[in-house]
This record gives sequence, structure tokens and C-alpha cells, in this order.
Amino acid sequence: MCYGVNFMTNMRKLFEPLKLRGITLPNRVVLSPLCMYSANSGIASDWQFAHLSTFARGGVGLVFAEATAVEPRGRITPKCLGIWTDEQAEALKPTTSFIERMGSVPGLQIAHAGRKASASPPWAGGKPVSLHDTTWGDSGWQTVAPSAVPVADGWETPRALSEAEISNLVEDFAAAARRAAIAGFKVLEIHGAHGYLIHSFLSPLANQRNDRYGGDRSGRMRFALEVTEAVRSAWPDDLPIFFRVSAVDTAGWEVEDSIALARELKALGVDVIDCSAGGISGAPAFRAADDGRPLPKGGQRPLGFQVPYAEAIRRDAEISTMAVGRIVDAQQAEDILSAGRADLIGIGRELMHNPFWPLHAAETLEQDEAFALWPEQYRWAIVRRAELGQYTGA
Ligand SMILES: Cc1cc2nc3c(=O)[nH]c(=O)nc-3n(C[C@H](O)[C@H](O)[C@H](O)COP(=O)(O)O)c2cc1C
Repeated sequence: MCYGVNFMTNMRKLFEPLKLRGITLPNRVVLSPLCMYSANSGIASDWQFAHLSTFARGGVGLVFAEATAVEPRGRITPKCLGIWTDEQAEALKPTTSFIERMGSVPGLQIAHAGRKASASPPWAGGKPVSLHDTTWGDSGWQTVAPSAVPVADGWETPRALSEAEISNLVEDFAAAARRAAIAGFKVLEIHGAHGYLIHSFLSPLANQRNDRYGGDRSGRMRFALEVTEAVRSAWPDDLPIFFRVSAVDTAGWEVEDSIALARELKALGVDVIDCSAGGISGAPAFRAADDGRPLPKGGQRPLGFQVPYAEAIRRDAEISTMAVGRIVDAQQAEDILSAGRADLIGIGRELMHNPFWPLHAAETLEQDEAFALWPEQYRWAIVRRAELGQYTGA
């Protein structure tokens, strides 16, 4: 060993495996779900394979596929991924098996976009797509929500769901869970954040129902809990379930509400709360968790700005949490874990910028002796590169 680095002196938290039910994540780095707007009628394209397999090659422990709709109206855009048919599940199998071959764990986020559905991809403005507009393959559709309240000016008004439709949606989530298992996913995340359908039921702003799915917090939580219960029964017992919350949304849902929800989710068999924030309205959604000041929409969020939510939920609901949001370097991630603020580190944009982030983090934290974590197809050449003095790392 001649790279001038004293590797493996001690095992860092970021590279400690984590056992969740019957599976073991090889490390604590998670690819946060990232919509790619590259599916056709909900069927994964080669983009999904290329995109997700990259992070498995890069040493990410748990690779989450993007928000995947449980029914056609649940897609954010007509180009979003779906899992309401067997064909859609089948198309994901090569991706899950490749991720496993690389020693990573494949995860799927199941979702329903509710009143934020039927939009164009962000690079085309994220604007509502009308019923007759086929620019994106499938045309747009009438959105559905707990109440007929639009997200903000310029958004379509959704149609309020009936109780019978709500029951059907609960079953759609369960069917999606069954298909996800068949597709080879080993972790399932229920998307309960960012103003999409489940979050909009939780929100007193978006949910103005006066039946048993609305009203006080327990009524507003009913849909989330029914979905979770149905998914837990449909998903194998030995595989874990994550639930993503908007821990605060600055519009009537606060971290205390998320803690109460997390306690109930834990009782239903959820293993990890993934702690995001915001997204319920068009208004500035985030708040700097440390000092409570609202952050301007689109403004720069501080590093690790949502970590305090993961910490509070972990402590007060006594459940494992994933921290996410501007976690960008190895030591920052290590410090979050070693201070007991979260159990997992979700990374989105930094991984898109550098898909080999985990391998580089392992080098920085001296956890990868002789590049052992690299895929063998690359390792020999990376070792040669180091031996020839072309190594510019630590
Ligand atoms: C391109 C893009 C797509 C995203 N898609 C999803 C998604 O499908 N589901 C979700 O829960 N969050 C989604 N997010 C949010 C990320 O998962 C993550 O929480 C957010 O980017 C903050 O983490 P970061 O600072 O590491 O990027 C998306 C973010 C980006 C930038």
C-alpha cells in the first residue's frame, strides 16, 4: 500500500452497515429520490437504468428510484415513472438487479402527486399541462386532492376526492408495493412530503374536508396512516419501509405534528422517517430550522438546513431518521451521524454533480484501503493510476 494514507484506522459512521429488518445497507449514503421526467406512459426508459446504475457503481448504499406514481393521475408530469401496471414493474427489473450486483440496495419511492400533478417538467417551466396538450406524450389530466383548493395562483383547481375514491387510492398504494417487490426493490418509501397527495391531506391549508379524512390532526392523518397500513401488509415483512415527511411546511404543519405522525407510523411498522420540508404552497416554503426565519423561495439554504428535523424526530419519536438537504461533504455527513442526529444521509444534487461521491468520501475518511470499494472493472486501473503517481487525492 503506497498511497501515503493511513486507511481504516477506525470505522467511520458513514461506512458502518445498517441492518433494517432482513436487509443490511452496506453504508449510510442514500441517493435521495430524484424525478427524471424520462419515462414513457410511466414505463422506465434506458435513462432510468443509466441514471440509477451510476450511483450503484459509485458506492451509494441505498439507491432510491424517483417518485413513482401509484396510478396515472399520480404522476407529477406525463413523463414521470409509474408502477400501476405489471409492464412498468417489469421494466425496472434490470435496474434493481444491476444495483444489487454492485453491492447496493435498490429502493423505490411510491407517490401520488395529487393537486401538483399534470405539470410540465421543470426545465419547461413546471406549468400545468392541459387535457389536450400532448407535448409530453400523454396529455394532461384533471388533478385530484382532499379539497378543491389550488396550490397557488396559476395552478389548476383540483377535484375533491370522494371517500370511495380515497379507499381506491389506498388500494393503489398497496398494489404498487406488491409490484415494487416483484420488480426487485428491497426498500420502499412512501412519499408523504412536498405538497403531494399525502402531504396535502395532512395540511390544514390544503385539506378543508369536514368528513373523517379532515378536520383535526388525527382526521388529517387518517389517509397517511391508512396508506401505510395497507402498504405494510402488501410489502414483505422482512423488508423496510421509509416514510418521507415535510417535517415543517410553514403553513400549519410543524415539527411537533411530524413527531406525532412519526410515532403512529412507527406503530404501523415504518422503519425510517426521511425528513424533508416544505412544498405545500407556492409561497416561500422553507424555514431555517435553527432560527425560525423564513428563507426566500429559491434562496440559498444553509448547509444541512433540515438536519434539525431528523434530529428532533429521531429523539422524540424514537425512530431511525434520514437527514437530507445540502449535505455536501464527507466530514459534514460523518459529523451528523456521529452526533446521533440521524441514521442515514440522503443526498440529491451533490450526487448528481459527483456520482462517485461515496467512493471519494471513503478516501477522504480513510475507509477504502487500496480502492477495495471500487467496482473491479475500474479498481485495477485506479490502483495503477495511484501507483504511477497520477493520484491527486489526500
Ligand atoms: C432533480 C430533482 C428531483 C427530485 N425529485 C424528488 C422525488 O422524486 N421525490 C422526492 O421526495 N424528492 C425529490 N427531490 C428532492 C430531493 O430528493 C432532495 O430531498 C433535495 O434535493 C434536497 O437534497 P440535496 O440538497 O442533497 O439535493 C428532487 C430534487 C431534485 C433536485
